[in-house]
Amino acid sequence: MKRPLSVFFLTSEVLPVVKTGGLADVSAALPAALSEEFGDEIDIRIGTVGFKGVERLPGFRLLKTFITRTPAGAMTIRILEGRLSKGNVPVYAVDPEGMFNREELYGENGTEYPDNLERFSAWNHALLHLPAVVGFFPDILHANDWQTALSIPLLPHVIRPSLAVTPMKTLLSIHNLAFQGVYPLDQWHLTGLPSSYNRFDGLEYHGRLSLLKGGIQFADCITTVSPSYREEVLSEPGGFGLSGALRHRRESFYGLLNGIDAHEWNPETDQYLPIQFSRAKIGKKSALQKKLRQEWGLNSRAPKPLFGVVSRMTHQKGAGLLAEAIYSMGLEDDLREDWVILGSGDPSLEDLWERIQRIFPGRIRVKTGYDEPLAHRIIAASDFLVIPSVYEPCGLTQMYAMRYGTIPLVNPTGGLRDTVESEKTGFWFEELTIAGIKKGLKKARALYHDQEGFDSMRQRAMAVESSWKNRTREYENLYRTLLSSPHGTNTVP
Ligand code: ADP
Ligand code: GLC
Repeated sequence: MKRPLSVFFLTSEVLPVVKTGGLADVSAALPAALSEEFGDEIDIRIGTVGFKGVERLPGFRLLKTFITRTPAGAMTIRILEGRLSKGNVPVYAVDPEGMFNREELYGENGTEYPDNLERFSAWNHALLHLPAVVGFFPDILHANDWQTALSIPLLPHVIRPSLAVTPMKTLLSIHNLAFQGVYPLDQWHLTGLPSSYNRFDGLEYHGRLSLLKGGIQFADCITTVSPSYREEVLSEPGGFGLSGALRHRRESFYGLLNGIDAHEWNPETDQYLPIQFSRAKIGKKSALQKKLRQEWGLNSRAPKPLFGVVSRMTHQKGAGLLAEAIYSMGLEDDLREDWVILGSGDPSLEDLWERIQRIFPGRIRVKTGYDEPLAHRIIAASDFLVIPSVYEPCGLTQMYAMRYGTIPLVNPTGGLRDTVESEKTGFWFEELTIAGIKKGLKKARALYHDQEGFDSMRQRAMAVESSWKNRTREYENLYRTLLSSPHGTNTVP
């Protein structure tokens, strides 16, 4: 047996505590898969937020309360302990004085909470104190996105302030470069970092401070969630202003493709489906679709394809462009397919979709809001899942769709390019324009009416192996390489 290694996995989102996007799925599925694959060789534990209602989650209980200094003053920190729903991975939900006991995680009605730097910084400080409080001494600190990036430069100052030496190796995983945790410099004191970090090769970013940039500069190594996205962010506009910082760390920057939770997303056992099915019994998928159509009032007489969308309604996801493409198709030929749309996000895009629904009654049904069971049902019951993302670090829904025999139609960017094979397991839009999307939709329509072609594409899509099981090895290797390599020059003197 290899020497056991221990990892403290820091994330602001994890199912079942709180989810706004794919980060929550990955933060549950990757640690669970690592623990399942490597057993006692990896002791991985998750540090997340003490979000509203966490104490009522099955199996969660108050473990410890302690008082610590944070940049915003002394705070009482509660640690609630639970487990992931599958497997035995411990989850520590850390609550600095109720700062995460709110309706939402980051903000409401499209506006960020004004005290986010104070909240996330206090929480990062508390997370760094947690190992000593619970008696867990990790080899590796694995941070995710801007929300936990501050922990990386902060680590030596919180854990061994007198020596300012990093006691653990650090890894930063970037799930989306568009979100960077950028704040005015006059809030610097809230980070708790010495002002020597306020420089171009520190956290300084165009006259402001960037938490994500801090993580990029000081992590021992960096990953992002697909090989193609890694390439895209090394230049602009993909790097959202951080391509230079990433190029500087190029040798320690890897693109590791995300996987999916093959237990949670399995058409044979999916708890949210009234009718389950398999590759061999794909015929049952039509019964599931019929039920969904009836419930949603989509009662077509002639056989028609059902297109689904499950997505944040934002510019990134191409939500506006898709609405316009559908509108234009409708004007052209009165829509020869049905649509079920589930999404939430930008209020103006939600509005636009509501309007599209009113223009095509009985053809398009839109539900705005967040609904996990419905997400499973739409992905399972649709014939096609449409994902016209402007950029996509990895994307998970296309992999979920393929597993359910639902053909993904994607803009081939980032992880969408790496996971969907054009004309084999899905379709690539030739260009991300109204015309390009319409062309792709028409191709899908034609395939639907070619029974043999449609069936074989569905079979190929369902055979694609996307589970984390085969992808955890890359993380294990990286953790081991990190352990055996010397520390980088990752502190500012
Ligand atoms: P991103 O993280 O950029 O939003 P991903 O494809 O990685 O994109 O992950 C999105 C996750 O959120 C998937 O699990 C998807 O099913 C889910 N999801 C998106 N919108 C909704 C919604 N309105 N209701 C329920 N689940 C949603
Ligand atoms: C981000 C990205 C998405 C990715 C997810 C999980 O939310 O936008 O593409 O799949 O993180 O890594």
